[in-house]
Amino acid sequence: MTKENILKEVLSVFTRIEIYKYVKKIINKMVDCGYNHYIVGGVIRDLILSVTSGKTSSSVKDIDLVVEAKEYDKIVKLMTDITFTSPSRIIKHHRFFTLSIFIEENKDAAIRIDVSIPRKEKYPYDGALPEVSVGSVYDDIFRRDFTINAIALRYNIINKNYDFYDPFGGIDDLRRKYIRILHNKSFYDDPTRIIRAIRFSAKLGFKIEPVTEKYLKEAMKDNVLLKISDNRLVNEFLHILKKGENLQTVVKLFKLYKVANVYREQLGGLFSTFEKKCLEIELEKVKDDYDRFFIRLLYLLENTYGKVAILGRNNATSTFKNAMVSLYIPKMQRQRIYEAIRFITSNKKKNLPPWVEKYISGSYNL
Ligand code: CTP
Repeated sequence: MTKENILKEVLSVFTRIEIYKYVKKIINKMVDCGYNHYIVGGVIRDLILSVTSGKTSSSVKDIDLVVEAKEYDKIVKLMTDITFTSPSRIIKHHRFFTLSIFIEENKDAAIRIDVSIPRKEKYPYDGALPEVSVGSVYDDIFRRDFTINAIALRYNIINKNYDFYDPFGGIDDLRRKYIRILHNKSFYDDPTRIIRAIRFSAKLGFKIEPVTEKYLKEAMKDNVLLKISDNRLVNEFLHILKKGENLQTVVKLFKLYKVANVYREQLGGLFSTFEKKCLEIELEKVKDDYDRFFIRLLYLLENTYGKVAILGRNNATSTFKNAMVSLYIPKMQRQRIYEAIRFITSNKKKNLPPWVEKYISGSYNL
């Protein structure tokens, strides 16, 4: 398929996805105000894959937009002026020149649209959180993890059309099925990319490109994963519970690259359960990331610390609470698990959250 055809098909699919109706409002505003804009990140990767190889992804719930502007405050003002058909709120992250628009379509699942101006990142030391400053669009693309995540759909205000901005050959790597970093220091700057490389490799069935693999192994030898906070390390694991696919391959790659040793140390029994039960929590039929995350987490907790029904309500809550607190699982996610325990141990089986209903009935196909 030629790039022109890929572009045509991607645009056609993009304008038909559910959340396009919200994105369009933002895009129109940008165009009216004379700004070029770029749609970037995972959504473009997944759209290209869906048109070139038919690999369908779960429904799009978040989108990243970069607006080619220099003044963050002006963009905040423009975004605040937009009204959506569903309730929405804006969270500003001034320090990172970005803002997140959350649109609540229903109680459990908000759509998230991140809008930012182009940013440049500098890592003061290996594994540090980056210092962010205003940069060019090229800088914004260059700070990303892999070539396949560094493809942008660019709207040019003068030509009034879209093309691909793909300075690192991401589209070719999608064709070759390669996970490739953009520069040699990538895994040192952000060691979580090692875990992301494994997640994407397993999920997409892509190979970690040989030079990238060499740098990954070197970084592991230098123990870079020990340079990031426990919080970030656990967070990447939770991301696998949310977005990961082909978990058996994840486990294999964890072992191959010796990431498993780090997680065994960090997550203890929960990680051993993950290694043993990875096939059982594949949940191919559960398409919703939210449902899949909580089903997987509760299943791992029960198989590590004891079944809710046997532990009884209060015991289960405190056993799981202690475990989850020591594993740095965020409060909101812990609360969903306590809520599930209450449902499971009570006789009321009405108005269950959908994932709890699936969990209890086993209809999620464990
Ligand atoms: N990104 C990055 N380095 C990270 C995290 C994110 O470069 N450590 C960039 C990538 O360009 C990525 C985008 O931010 O595509 C969005 O990140 P995220 O939402 O975590 O991942 P997605 O690519 O959207 O993929 P998925 O939805 O499967 O998590």
